[in-house]
Amino acid sequence: MFSRMTAPFRALGLSPVSVAPEYQRRGVGAALIKAGLALAKEQGWDVVFVLGDPAYYERFGFRAELAQGFISPFAGPHLLALFLKELPRTTNVQIDYAPAFAAL
Ligand SMILES: CC(C)(COP(=O)(O)OP(=O)(O)OC[C@H]1O[C@@H](n2cnc3c(N)ncnc32)[C@H](O)[C@@H]1OP(=O)(O)O)[C@@H](O)C(=O)NCCC(=O)NCCS
Repeated sequence: MFSRMTAPFRALGLSPVSVAPEYQRRGVGAALIKAGLALAKEQGWDVVFVLGDPAYYERFGFRAELAQGFISPFAGPHLLALFLKELPRTTNVQIDYAPAFAAL
């Protein structure tokens, strides 16, 4: 699922990603993520954030260093970003997941 984030640019949060156990490790997760990112780019979104394991998400281009400098309760080594467009470098900018995530 991709949901709109609150940020001073057009940002999406990728979460959750889930494949039924009996269908895992067959490329389903990668196919879903790649198709979602392609659609997000086509629709003009600027950035996609994900909170997850870099070992998995780096293969799609997500990087922890690209998420540094953003203010989030999830800031740290597992908050990753993928820029779909060139954006001016910003620091100390607040990014927030949709309220339903904060309520968890
Ligand atoms: C993560 C998940 C969506 C991947 O889906 P998938 O269809 O199995 O993924 P793919 O077949 O495209 O890719 C499999 C690769 O991902 C790796 N992988 C899967 N989960 C991983 C994880 N948590 N950390 C690192 N690597 C992971 C596998 O080791 C495998 O690597 P390989 O290609 O080098 O063998 C699936 O394992 C899942 O639903 N997990 C439970 C929910 C979850 O943890 N979601 C992520 C956080 S929201």
